[in-house]
Amino acid sequence: MSEVIKVSNLWKVYPDGTKALKSVDLVIKEGEFCGLMGPSGSGKSTLLHLIAGLDRPTEGKIWVLGREVTAMKEDELADFRKNNLAFVFQLFYLLEDFSVLENLLLVGDMVGIKDARKKALEILSFLRLEDKAHQKPSQLSGGQMQRVAIGRALMLEPKVLLADEPTGNLDLEEGTRIFELFKHLNQERGITFLVATHNTELSKFFSRIVRLRDGTLFY
Ligand SMILES: Nc1ncnc2c1ncn2[C@@H]1O[C@H](COP(=O)(O)OP(=O)(O)OP(=O)(O)O)[C@@H](O)[C@H]1O
Ligand SMILES: [Mg+2]
Repeated sequence: MSEVIKVSNLWKVYPDGTKALKSVDLVIKEGEFCGLMGPSGSGKSTLLHLIAGLDRPTEGKIWVLGREVTAMKEDELADFRKNNLAFVFQLFYLLEDFSVLENLLLVGDMVGIKDARKKALEILSFLRLEDKAHQKPSQLSGGQMQRVAIGRALMLEPKVLLADEPTGNLDLEEGTRIFELFKHLNQERGITFLVATHNTELSKFFSRIVRLRDGTLFY
């Protein structure tokens, strides 16, 4: 199995001196459904942001799909990210003035997907959201908004999906549905997952769990 994510001696020291990550080493292989767990403030979001190239490390290197993201310039990184990686944020970041369908189509435009509308409708149907396509995000429940945020990530046809507390705002029932969906995408489409969560009740879904404590990784 090939290495999809490789992190070597990764440090993140924020400008105020907070050492959020201390010499983290991690390998995630193709097809893994890996959980990233640890208490609040342990560095989960920091690690996911660095892997996605949304922020730069203080020291260390990161490879995604064999390419060193820490060596890329900003425009190269943006290009690489949109072709390979998707990030699901806890707070959704949906565009409130646009319908559910339009939220997906805007991503399609961004990456120049052909037949974006057909694909967006397929994804919405897969996510059981077809009847919400023309609603605005504010008209949806938390679980439905989370599914739209996942649908937007799926428009990118990512090889790797990073998710930061994707069920943080949901009850256990809706959280379980999201994890079942992730597992399905992992198994049917071969998408590799790294998912940060606090929720120990959902940890049974993971094929492996890596744990952070105070910026250090434990296996
Ligand atoms: N921009 C920042 N500037 C300074 N310190 C930061 C910044 N972002 C995060 N930190 C600090 O870095 C540490 C790790 O934060 P991080 O957000 O990665 O934790 P987390 O594991 O995702 O926590 P949570 O479970 O609460 O989301 C914390 O001590 C946090 O206060
Ligand atoms: Mg976090």
